[in-house]
Amino acid sequence: MKKEIKNICCIGAGYVGGPTMAVIALKNPEIKVNIVDINDQRIQDWNDTNLDNLPIYEPGLAEVVEQTRGKNLFFSTDVDQGIRDADMIFISVNTPTKTYGKGKGQAADLKYIELCARQIARIAQRDKIVVEKSTLPVRTAEALSDILSNSESGFNFEILSNPEFLAEGTAIDDLLNPDRVLIGGDNTESGQIAKNTLSSIYEAWVPKERVLQTNVWSSELSKLTANAFLAQRISSINAMSALCEKTEADVDEIARAIGMDSRIGPKFLKSSVGFGGSCFQKDVLNLVYIAKSYGLDEVAEYWDQVIKLNDYQKRRFADRIIKESYNTVSGKKIAFFGWAFKKDTNDTRESAAIYVADHLLDEEAEIVVYDPKVSEERVYADLEYLNNHSSEYIRSRVKVVNNPFNAVDDAHAIAVLTEWDEFKDYNWGEIYSKVLKPANIFDGRNILDTETLVELGFNVYNIGK
Ligand code: UDX
Ligand code: UDX
Repeated sequence: MKKEIKNICCIGAGYVGGPTMAVIALKNPEIKVNIVDINDQRIQDWNDTNLDNLPIYEPGLAEVVEQTRGKNLFFSTDVDQGIRDADMIFISVNTPTKTYGKGKGQAADLKYIELCARQIARIAQRDKIVVEKSTLPVRTAEALSDILSNSESGFNFEILSNPEFLAEGTAIDDLLNPDRVLIGGDNTESGQIAKNTLSSIYEAWVPKERVLQTNVWSSELSKLTANAFLAQRISSINAMSALCEKTEADVDEIARAIGMDSRIGPKFLKSSVGFGGSCFQKDVLNLVYIAKSYGLDEVAEYWDQVIKLNDYQKRRFADRIIKESYNTVSGKKIAFFGWAFKKDTNDTRESAAIYVADHLLDEEAEIVVYDPKVSEERVYADLEYLNNHSSEYIRSRVKVVNNPFNAVDDAHAIAVLTEWDEFKDYNWGEIYSKVLKPANIFDGRNILDTETLVELGFNVYNIGK
């Protein structure tokens, strides 16, 4: 049995809520989808007639929005109205790492989630299915359920966990062809109906066998586990990269060799300057916190090492730039190619570039950043957020340019921080003529053609080679 859904509301028009709801709307034209957000500017940007101004950049997203917006997909700041009209509500607000109090630096801050639950309890005028889309610590559904069932409304709120596995940069593809969709809910009769109802929305385009139903706790913990395993693979290959640099092994050759073992598989073995993004660090830290809170210290330490190794990798990259610059970068111009945490996104949250830049700023370097999708103000905001240097200091030492060739004039070194495809196709001969000699390139993504660069006269420093 399932319920008929005519109206969906999603609270949170971010990197997760926006693309996910756009695809749900595309594939379910008979359902009206309202995305609501308290951030007025963000909603204005989603409603901008010029699709180049959407608040997030994802390949294929503008096309999906173009086909659905104003038909069955709507963006608004009227959260109350969205809640009132909805048969099903997705909660997709952010859950940052706590910056205060108990669990500071590790636990997920659930205040926005709780606010959403209270608002739903206050506004709803009939039964609703409430879906956790945000990645949450295990047993959050219980808190949601508590708040909703203790509301005075007397309506029934069925809570589901439906974590999102999309990766930024490939969000639309991942949503259209997911490996699996996970739906956790109670095994009661009404829980089962709610799970079937949500399943049917995805089954509009996802093969039935890829829609998994579990209990709520398994679903919540599966999401944290998936991100922890993925992050751990990167830290594992990055640990080997440090060893490769001391021996004559090549980390990309190792990745190829072990990736052909079908038990290991070839994906997520790309050694890098370190993983970034809004999820990996936050979710692993959250897992560490949860394990500790159950007294599982060994489990907590095990996962904590994934983060420590990632911090080490970022620092190691910055240290190498310093070391190869005759041990000082003071007053030297370092050109950064890329600021986003990966290619094909304008998202910079936890990007390795931020930490590498911060470390170089400690050493008084001058940094010139070029990224095809990241704005100047974003770069400054990211560095200021660390609270390590004053805004004046940052703005005097960091410049952001919108042409890569302007970044390299008289640069002492070029550092590749993001694996944007366009970097591979530049006229590197022309770049060579502009930089100071010796011409040093630090390829933090191992994407450039080292042989050609060496022929042109560059010294190329790779990760794990
Ligand atoms: C976020 C979390 O980072 C991730 O852990 C979770 O899995 C999904 O939600 P993302 O979509 O990338 O992912 O976050 P973000 O781009 O920050 O979007 C969240 C949106 O929620 C923001 O636009 C914010 O304005 C909005 N919001 C937040 C509300 O509308 N109401 C609130 O009370 C809080
Ligand atoms: C991740 C998960 O992949 C996704 O399932 C989840 O829903 C959210 O978190 P995302 O952070 O968007 O997605 O991107 P992802 O492709 O996983 O990359 C994360 C970071 O790891 C990036 O900084 C990327 O450059 C880095 N990375 C990835 C590597 O350094 N090496 C790799 O082999 C893969």
